[in-house]
Amino acid sequence: VLKEDASLPKAEKITIANKDVALGEGEKKGARVKVSGRIHQLRTQKQVTFITLTDGYGQLQCLLQGELTRTYDAMTFALGTSLTLYGELKKVPEDKKAPDSRELHVDYYEVIGSSPSGEDAITNKVSHAQNQWDQSMLDNRHLVLRGDHAAALMKLRAHTEWAFVKTYHDMKFVKVAPPALVQTQVEGGATLFNVPYYDEKAFLTQSSQLYLETVLPSLGNVYCIEKSFRAEKSLTRRHLSEYTHVEAELDFIDFADLLEHLEEIICRVIDAVLEDTEMAAFLKELNPTFQKPQRPFLRMKYSDAIEWLNKQDPPILNEEGNTHVFGDDIAEAAERRMTDIINRPIFLTHFPTEIKAFYMKKDPSDARVTESVDCLMPGVGEIVGGSMRMEGYEELMAAYEREGIPAKDYYWYTDQRKYGTSPHGGYGLGLERFLAWLANQHTVRTTCLYPRFMGRCKP
Ligand code: 4AD
Repeated sequence: VLKEDASLPKAEKITIANKDVALGEGEKKGARVKVSGRIHQLRTQKQVTFITLTDGYGQLQCLLQGELTRTYDAMTFALGTSLTLYGELKKVPEDKKAPDSRELHVDYYEVIGSSPSGEDAITNKVSHAQNQWDQSMLDNRHLVLRGDHAAALMKLRAHTEWAFVKTYHDMKFVKVAPPALVQTQVEGGATLFNVPYYDEKAFLTQSSQLYLETVLPSLGNVYCIEKSFRAEKSLTRRHLSEYTHVEAELDFIDFADLLEHLEEIICRVIDAVLEDTEMAAFLKELNPTFQKPQRPFLRMKYSDAIEWLNKQDPPILNEEGNTHVFGDDIAEAAERRMTDIINRPIFLTHFPTEIKAFYMKKDPSDARVTESVDCLMPGVGEIVGGSMRMEGYEELMAAYEREGIPAKDYYWYTDQRKYGTSPHGGYGLGLERFLAWLANQHTVRTTCLYPRFMGRCKP
């Protein structure tokens, strides 16, 4: 059994991120520290055991020598084992590699929680060779999240969300928290999740847009970062049942203002992410060729996109296998091919009324189309959907009628047109899609902690 040498100085408790500790070098003694974490990598040689310890803040190379390597505990070390290591922090010789320039020369340790080796070992449950969106990897998502790749993505995600909060705050937008349990639809009945609500019927929200609109008069420009839910029946790379929706609504603007604001928010968020050296390093690893988008983004009208698709050689066809005609939905495959070929952010604008949501404002110069925009990014396609909103009371009532929406349930939304209407618009950005683009992910499934999509509601 291992005993701590009582003659050694008392160890100072640190986390791996703590860089403010004296390092030993040559004759000079380094600080004696204790640091808790889990074994992330393990390499055993005859007289030396190398541990890469992780504590969520960073990774530290640790060295055990001599009798420390011969205890029962040391022989049963495995990936995941949690322990507290005591020892001297030393500078790593220039010619040696380590996660940072320090290594811990361990003089004592305590195992906190062992982890299995053999059949049950973490390495047998998750494999870096596999795609992290494989079913078995998703079943073991809780262990996948211990890996470097997933952890970097989750940190990047956290930071990106913070960058949105910061940027909106700097732009004087007020954050609100609309409800998730609702009794109205925003984006069509086909993707509503029903939930029993006492003696009533309710849905999980598809979008907080309608609620954001209601507070423009008193709060000015507003935003929220909330979950949205869609009962999507298709399994695609970019559809989730539950996703994080960054939504904003702007008052007294026109369509050009909306597009300009969108460019601004996207670029400022990217700047705020890249400003952080740790995030910039993650991004470099995840997406080595990433380049900040150039402003202005390409603006392309829906009708021009239809023409563009048909002009390709061979033409890019619609889902029925025909050339596109005005009024067709530009489906995911066609949209993505177009975006990949053009290979820069696109604002696709002025969609026909029939294929867009009930609330969208018509283009005053062409009644067939709406003042609507999708922002398309290479590799993913649509990451943002937005529009100007109908201002007129009668027009909105007619839109309910057209869509078969019971106007009475929307009285609170309609009232915005009754009590002092205004030209306003907004958008929703799917955080997972934004991240899939930013970090070059094959699918949005790896950009969420525990993805939800048709057929998966665990872990
Ligand atoms: O285009 P959508 O449906 O627009 C709205 O919901 C508006 N009411 C938003 C608003 O104006 N406030 O969705 C907006 C964005 C999409 O561009 C996409 O990024 C994301 O939400 N999104 C999804 N992300 C993952 N999985 C799904 N099933 C998604 N559906 C939409």
